[in-house]
Amino acid sequence: MVKVAILGYGTVGSGVYEIIHDNDFTEQALNPIKITHILDIRDFPEHPEKDIFTKNFDDILNDDEVYCVAETMGGLHPAYEFTKSLLEKGKNVVTSNKELVATYGPELLAIAKDKNVNYLFEASVGGGIPIIKPMCSSLMSNKIDKIVGILNGTTNFILTEMINKNKDFDEALKNAQENGYAERNPSADIEGHDACRKLAILSSIAWGNFVDYRDIVTEGITAISLEDVKYADKLGYVIKLIGFAEKKQKIFARVSPMFVSKKYPLAGVESVFNAIVVKGNYLGTSMFYGRGAGKFPTASAVVADIIESVRHINAKKAYIEWKPSEPGYMLDINESVCKYFVKCTNSREQIDSLFDNAEFADGVVENETGFITTQMTEGDFKEKIKSLNVTGFIRVLEA
Ligand code: HSE
Repeated sequence: MVKVAILGYGTVGSGVYEIIHDNDFTEQALNPIKITHILDIRDFPEHPEKDIFTKNFDDILNDDEVYCVAETMGGLHPAYEFTKSLLEKGKNVVTSNKELVATYGPELLAIAKDKNVNYLFEASVGGGIPIIKPMCSSLMSNKIDKIVGILNGTTNFILTEMINKNKDFDEALKNAQENGYAERNPSADIEGHDACRKLAILSSIAWGNFVDYRDIVTEGITAISLEDVKYADKLGYVIKLIGFAEKKQKIFARVSPMFVSKKYPLAGVESVFNAIVVKGNYLGTSMFYGRGAGKFPTASAVVADIIESVRHINAKKAYIEWKPSEPGYMLDINESVCKYFVKCTNSREQIDSLFDNAEFADGVVENETGFITTQMTEGDFKEKIKSLNVTGFIRVLEA
């Protein structure tokens, strides 16, 4: 029997407990798994296994029989200190904590390698969607060119409500909160920070060097209006919060709302669902789709990592390593290239004198013109719009 502990009995942690309690994974893990400790600052006097709860982290750290620990506390501290101590003690750790992986990933992975233990984090991106393991192993024969994803369920729910039900941003956010999708303080989701950390993790895996989330240009969806949604529809697009990363000579990564062509596979990804398009040089384009959040989808990914770790109990562990990136590894946003949707109060003549072959959408807002440019660098684009009276712009993702 292999002993496993859980740190944090919140939504995901309790899901991990329930899945392991309700199933026998002996065949998959090649060993029976038993949860012997749950760390939480709260009391659970009605819990059928109330005796396995502890408030003292040392009970887990100092139990030499605890082989694997699921860190489902979230946040940076004390999750970082706990994870580091556990790995240094030679225990395997699996986690759903994207903030921790995106911030301290290189250091924690290096300790895991040194101690020949696992630090696994399938649940940190895309909840229950298998994406980390496929990128680490199934796609190993490919050079990854590009990652394009809807990485946040809350914002996708809000945008879907705006698109399909004509609700404005505030109403859609309220609805997301009432449905339990958005936190009372929703800023990490709606400002794009959650998606940014997930994109940083995927980019680091894809290209082997640590992509620091602080180097990723990040814009949220708070400025998106119903008028923008209508412009998009008229021009053949839907608005999505997109995590976009590609590697040419340099890496380029950005989280921002985008006009997504209705012909692009991500356009049909609605509500709280997530999807990630990965382009490999031999595979071509592949899309991973599913539930990016929620108790059981996320917990199922954590449990899969526990099983993986237990299954290889006496083996040399396959490790992930994120080397530091060279200074200047990230392409400047002004050198990135795409099309842009622009709204302004200028005449068509003025617009035509600046932008060749613009595609116009008239009649959405009185005394305002919306148009899509051809492809150009963001630097050139920003220079051109200086002479216009621009009321907003959104980048465009073509099919
Ligand atoms: N708040 C996140 C989301 C949860 O809405 O996708 C999963 O990371």
